[in-house]
Amino acid sequence: MAVIAKKGFDVEKLRSDFPLLQTMMNGKPIAFLDSAASSQKPTRVIEAMDTYYREKHANVHRGVYQLSQEATTAYENARELARAFINAPSAHEVIFVRGCTEGINLVAATFGRRFLDAGSEVLISAMEHHSNIVPWQMACEDKGAKLKVIPVNEKGELVMEEFERLLSDKVKIVAITHVSNTLGTINPIEEIVEKAHDRGIPVLVDGAQAIPHMQVDVQALGADFYAFSGHKMFGPTGIGVLYGKEEWLNALPPYQGGGEMIETVTFEKTTYNELPHKFEAGTPDIAGAIGLGAAIEYIQSIGYDAIHAHEAELLDYATQGLQQVEGIRFIGTAREKASVVSFLADGIHPYDLGTILDKLGIAVRTGHHCTQPLMDQFCIPGTVRASLAFYNNKNDIDRLVDGVKRAVAMLR
Ligand code: ALA
Repeated sequence: MAVIAKKGFDVEKLRSDFPLLQTMMNGKPIAFLDSAASSQKPTRVIEAMDTYYREKHANVHRGVYQLSQEATTAYENARELARAFINAPSAHEVIFVRGCTEGINLVAATFGRRFLDAGSEVLISAMEHHSNIVPWQMACEDKGAKLKVIPVNEKGELVMEEFERLLSDKVKIVAITHVSNTLGTINPIEEIVEKAHDRGIPVLVDGAQAIPHMQVDVQALGADFYAFSGHKMFGPTGIGVLYGKEEWLNALPPYQGGGEMIETVTFEKTTYNELPHKFEAGTPDIAGAIGLGAAIEYIQSIGYDAIHAHEAELLDYATQGLQQVEGIRFIGTAREKASVVSFLADGIHPYDLGTILDKLGIAVRTGHHCTQPLMDQFCIPGTVRASLAFYNNKNDIDRLVDGVKRAVAMLR
């Protein structure tokens, strides 16, 4: 990653926006290095949700009274913020879901119902999170379709020649992650979309790990579906976005049935509401959407250029620091990487290392990171993963490197 100027970026000032970063873990100031699992929340997001519940709460799209209309305006304003954030052409193409997992499940279930049959194939990659494997397995199982897998090389990059070889006329959809949660690899989505579209195959992108780190422009990417979670981008849990091109969303049957997704209901027949409501059955997570909107505004106030420059610097710093510890093996050394460092210490189980780091106030994730097939490919039980956000500083990395050195000295 090339490091560019990060004018006006003050990491210590930004850290003060995050109450949790001021807390202690095991008697030590917390070094939070698990943002790929879930990021921390700035006061602005917490307050936006608090204010909504205290002053603006009512159900949306259901009341003529002023309070309900204000809640509806706030909810739809969040949708518009999300639309502009990913440069979707229309707010109708922005569906609020519980998170990236639900977004992928929505597409897998409805696309599967309408477009998969025995003999058709779904193409995913070997670096997918379980949430972009299992929903497709379920859809394939229902219809007798096959799941095909693009392999990953020893650096953790997609083998693009194999991708092209696997792109046969049997493939009905490609479902691929933008950034690997375990390896940090940034995949060449534009190229993948272009090659799939040449054969008329739509592409779903799992954007959960990309959205905290980079500007996502769904029109530039050309993706047919793009899913992401609020909680990984400094917003609340329980809310996420599924973007879908209008023609695809209109071509899919509804996912869940219930209030608000209908146009008319009789016991004989139901007709469905227009987008995006067709896919938003039941009372939505209104506060979550408002919190997500606040997170979007917060990210925009910092800017992705500054975020990228800072994270690229930290990624280099962490990689160089850990390299100095004897017997460290990195899993995921792709040329294009987001700020994720997965590693193993020779002869030490990741859980043991993670447990010692915890005692030192350092939060990392250990294990298979919901990518068991990828772990199988590398013949390892799991890794220790430090995943960085823009609010991390060099002190966090120094503590990680020092903690790993201490753990290695104790456990070897
Ligand atoms: N997908 C999340 C992670 O990578 C939970 O940790």
